[in-house]
Amino acid sequence: MISQPIYTLAIESSCDDTAVAILCNDKILANIVATQHVHEKWGGVVPELASRAHLQNIVPTVELALQQAKIDKHQLNAIAYTKGPGLLGSLLVGGTFAKAFSLSLGIPLIEVHHMQAHILAHFINGGQSYPKFPFLCLTVSGGHTQIVKITSYLTLEILGETIDDAAGEAFDKVAKILGLPYPGGPMVDKLAQTGNPNKFTFPEPKTGLFDFSFSGLKTSFLYLVNREMNKNPDFIEENKADLCASIQQAIVSILIKKLLLAAENEKITDLALAGGVSANSLLRNTFDQLKSSGYDVFIPPFEYCTDNAAMVGIAGYFKFKEKQFSDFGNPSLARFPLIELA
Ligand code: KG4
Ligand code: ZN
Repeated sequence: MISQPIYTLAIESSCDDTAVAILCNDKILANIVATQHVHEKWGGVVPELASRAHLQNIVPTVELALQQAKIDKHQLNAIAYTKGPGLLGSLLVGGTFAKAFSLSLGIPLIEVHHMQAHILAHFINGGQSYPKFPFLCLTVSGGHTQIVKITSYLTLEILGETIDDAAGEAFDKVAKILGLPYPGGPMVDKLAQTGNPNKFTFPEPKTGLFDFSFSGLKTSFLYLVNREMNKNPDFIEENKADLCASIQQAIVSILIKKLLLAAENEKITDLALAGGVSANSLLRNTFDQLKSSGYDVFIPPFEYCTDNAAMVGIAGYFKFKEKQFSDFGNPSLARFPLIELA
């Protein structure tokens, strides 16, 4: 039984955000995300530029987090970091810093799976209502779309996942077709607010029971836009909001339909959302409405949906309690199936 407070410094650097958080047990003392704007003009994340920006950001972001948390580095009990999946060069910067910091302070190093961290974001800042075990989590990010069954903080099972593109990727690709800046998901969401979601319809992908597929949806969106642009060069400009609202509705309805299928099959009534796409307003609203069908639904606060280090810190805290420390020789992994944790 651990009675002393546990101070964890957590680092997340799997993509283009250099994020550092400090937690006292499950409470956030600092949560900083240094967003890299260098990628905007390229229309997507450039891996080499991301690694370089992480190198520039990591030390000042850690210093700022310690200042905000008002603690000295010698008070820290553990360093948690994202081991993967993600961009290898980006992961290596956070991982190497974490290893060096933990070694110099003589405190445990804890490696965290990025998607497990997204799921455990639900348990940040004790006192709020939590999903009860077992619960299902729809994890939707730029790289993942999965339905995960969680039976304890550190035990999970994947029930279904995308066989091609992730939901966030679908949002980003559609945005690119419309000429919107990267990352496109938030822009599609914003434009969709004023659009008609029933103006355009898209064929529903056929996949295994709880699996997803979004690449066909993106292709039919592209074909529609190309076909209409041949007839009317102003088609995108004249229909942007309706296109965004329609494709958003198609993506969200697929996500919710599969989640409900899995929930019925597993007889589980606690449902959670995780990952960057859970910032999407239609997904949040539709998910929230499931309450009226008897489900208990849980959505993390907005700042813990997209990439952040607080979620890595809470995963690190649960692993610390189980003494799941990691070896300094363990590599960062660009590909790191969640199944390997099961
Ligand atoms: O979890 P996350 O921050 O990073 C990854 O681990 O991938 O997710 C980023 C993804 C991007 O594809 C982004 O476009 C999408 O989440 N996203 C959204 C919204 N906010 C972020 N997609 C739709 N609507 C949003 N409001
Ligand atoms: Zn993420």
